[in-house]
Amino acid sequence: MDGDSVHPGVAPLSFLLGRWRGEGEGGFPTINSFKYGEELTFSHSAHKQPVIVYSQKTWKLGSGEPMHSESGYWRPKPNGSIEVVIAQSTGLVEVQKGTFDAENKVVKLQSELVGNALKVREITRVFNVVDAEMSYVVEMATNLVNLQPHLKAFLKKL
Ligand code: HEM
Repeated sequence: MDGDSVHPGVAPLSFLLGRWRGEGEGGFPTINSFKYGEELTFSHSAHKQPVIVYSQKTWKLGSGEPMHSESGYWRPKPNGSIEVVIAQSTGLVEVQKGTFDAENKVVKLQSELVGNALKVREITRVFNVVDAEMSYVVEMATNLVNLQPHLKAFLKKL
């Protein structure tokens, strides 16, 4: 396998690979809504294993001041299931389990573990790629509020 080839285990998720940039909107019943800029990177070349390296950074629109960031590893399985581990800049960690649909370019994740979190009880993430546009929705449940959207974003492939 040369350095550029995609591991066969990662190939069904090759629609994610690359850099994506766009804007999102955040909210929750307990906070003021806000807008943000975001860049996501999904890469694989550092690994000869079926693992995608994920990193995300966000910033305030206007000032460019950094906001939340996170990084992790996406581990697809041949049966269409996927395990994702994410470490957030806030100190929160997630173990996500879910499924991917290579044909419709959808990944659905549901937290199995949320660690080191004061308020967060549960997190779901759904990613969808159509042509060169990605959208996602992140929902969370806290100790006070049931599962509902915190983030929605649209990004274009760079
Ligand atoms: C607020 C969790 C991603 C920006 C919050 C709160 C929680 C939270 C628990 C407080 C809600 C409350 O007080 O009831 C998370 C989780 C994330 C995430 C689990 C990822 C899965 C992000 C991202 C951004 C962001 C990517 C920025 C782009 C904010 C802002 C607030 C907030 C601005 C309001 C802060 C305030 O008003 O004090 N988030 N967050 N969050 N989050 Fe997130």
